[in-house]
Amino acid sequence: MNGSTILDGYAPVSLEVMRLDCVPGFDLYIVGSKGLVLYREKNVPFTLKNLKMLLENNVRYLYFKTTDESKYFDYIEDNLASIVEDKNVSPSKKASLIYDSSAHLAQQLISEPDSRKVVQRASKVMDTIVSFTASGRDAYKDIIRMLPSDYYTHTHSANVATYSLALGQVLGLTVNSGLWELTLGALLHDIGKTRVPREILNKNGPLSRQEFETVKQHVQWGVEIASQTRSVPHSSMPAIAQHHERISGKGYPYGIKEMHQFGKIVAVADSFDAMTTNRAYAKARSSFEAILILKTETTEFDKNIINALIEVMADEKVRVNR
Ligand SMILES: [Fe+2]
Repeated sequence: MNGSTILDGYAPVSLEVMRLDCVPGFDLYIVGSKGLVLYREKNVPFTLKNLKMLLENNVRYLYFKTTDESKYFDYIEDNLASIVEDKNVSPSKKASLIYDSSAHLAQQLISEPDSRKVVQRASKVMDTIVSFTASGRDAYKDIIRMLPSDYYTHTHSANVATYSLALGQVLGLTVNSGLWELTLGALLHDIGKTRVPREILNKNGPLSRQEFETVKQHVQWGVEIASQTRSVPHSSMPAIAQHHERISGKGYPYGIKEMHQFGKIVAVADSFDAMTTNRAYAKARSSFEAILILKTETTEFDKNIINALIEVMADEKVRVNR
């Protein structure tokens, strides 16, 4: 944790993240001689004077109660654009805040899939992610490096958004030519799963034919949910509608061969993340192994997208960490 201490029931917030003259909305604690003590109450703005004083005393982290985690995320999300633009914040810190915000939002989307407000917030955060990665050719690698290795529905959504963004960028998409629409669609790709009964989603063991038919419906349900909010543009829909299609025509729900580029990208990102994260029934494969498998599925996945994935994962550091 970069020199921060993990104390039971509290989580660190790095000073570089604190925005000046902003009210955090959560109580801040500081390490005292006998443990953590209250530093500032939630409605007191954090000032330049505070910052200078802390730095002079070699304080680099403040703490908040983990019960205030959602308030912390609201604060980060509200200030994400300013944090990402701040030259004093390291790229890896930016990447981790961006990723955590996406995963947190994905989690909220799962509990409130029909909330227009949450989807609107997601579209804003995706906007910041896209600008961040557009700031440098390899900026997405900072995010990929920190993707978690265990599978959860919400982190899977954030992972697929990250890979899709990286693939889109390698394939030449830009902020003005669909990168944001792709990334937002990728974050929402499995939102329809919120309508699949829990007992089917969490079933240990093979699904019956009928159960599988129900699971397959998550694609149309996802399109339905996403199209109910104006903050998701129509152009993001292929990312949701086609993520289980395959160029062989053997995918679902439509069995089409002529796939939209977003559908092809999210199909690869989704399969790659599924293979490289630990599931209840399968251990994570290495990125290298997963790419090899995808590469042999020449009738299923578009060759150009697989080549882009190889480029995305080519960096030695990226590969070692996955
Ligand atoms: Fe899916």
